[in-house]
Amino acid sequence: MARRLCCAWIFLLLLLLPGPAAGGKLLVVPMVGSHWLSMQEVVEKLSQRGHEVVVLMPEVSWHMKASQAYEVLTYPVTQTLEELDGAFNDFVAAHLRGLPFPQNILDIYKSYVHVFNTFFGQCKDLFRSQETLKALNQSGFDALLTDPFFMCGATLANYLSLPFVFFMRGFGCDLHFKAPQCPSPPSYVPRVFTFNSDRMTFFQRVENALVSLLEHKYCDGFYSEALKLSSEVLQRDVSFIDLVHSASIWLMRFDFVFEYVRPVMPNMVFIGGINCAKKKPLPKAYAEPTKPDK
Ligand SMILES: *[C@@H]1O[C@H](CO)[C@@H](O)[C@H](O)[C@H]1NC(C)=O
Repeated sequence: MARRLCCAWIFLLLLLLPGPAAGGKLLVVPMVGSHWLSMQEVVEKLSQRGHEVVVLMPEVSWHMKASQAYEVLTYPVTQTLEELDGAFNDFVAAHLRGLPFPQNILDIYKSYVHVFNTFFGQCKDLFRSQETLKALNQSGFDALLTDPFFMCGATLANYLSLPFVFFMRGFGCDLHFKAPQCPSPPSYVPRVFTFNSDRMTFFQRVENALVSLLEHKYCDGFYSEALKLSSEVLQRDVSFIDLVHSASIWLMRFDFVFEYVRPVMPNMVFIGGINCAKKKPLPKAYAEPTKPDK
């Protein structure tokens, strides 16, 4: 605990202290996907404040680009852009097929696992690239910033023994509350898919308690590939919680007031507004008020 708090303070200082004299060296491990659009803003600001930032990018990705604000280190990957597109299109299609219950749940779950494993393939490629790993280990980073959804950044931070900070929307199965050990009494904290509120009747509490017994189970299948690789790389059996629980700070890209009320830990910081950092006027079709039907 003391070590975790100490790491948290080091990272806060890294963020807050101005000027090159105070600069630290940060390794950024984004994942493929739209979150990079918000992360890039943070990375550019850190660099403006005199920190040395290195962004680790797969050779194939959707919209990660080089910039003058940060150094880029790319690593070779085996997937093509078409394969990434294909997995993502399947994932979207599964949500739109409109199958009846419970086929819809199974179909969506399968597409989740497929898209996860496809994107996670890039992480396997990273750990195959001895040259990249060696360069990273020799660079003497102070900390690692990552969106941990695909688990690659968290595995790399453990591998390089670096303190790490999460910049994230959340894990499945509410694991982003379980991993930092937020209190989560089933009598007060409603579980996903129960549609209960924080004020439950006796029977709703019973239902909530039953769902809470099952809720982490369906994530085992989801993360099994990732945990297999992490265990290989770190040469010990790791669980999901082992990998992520020691994050120094959890920067959460959502707004506390839009979620269910619940206790959170002091190292969880809500930064939902950051998704609006890149402003663009609405396209004309949406910007004009629609005329009410007569
Ligand atoms: C990183 O380099 C140090 C010093 O050369 C070495 O002791 C350590 O085992 C290396 N770590 C990894 C993960 O390769």
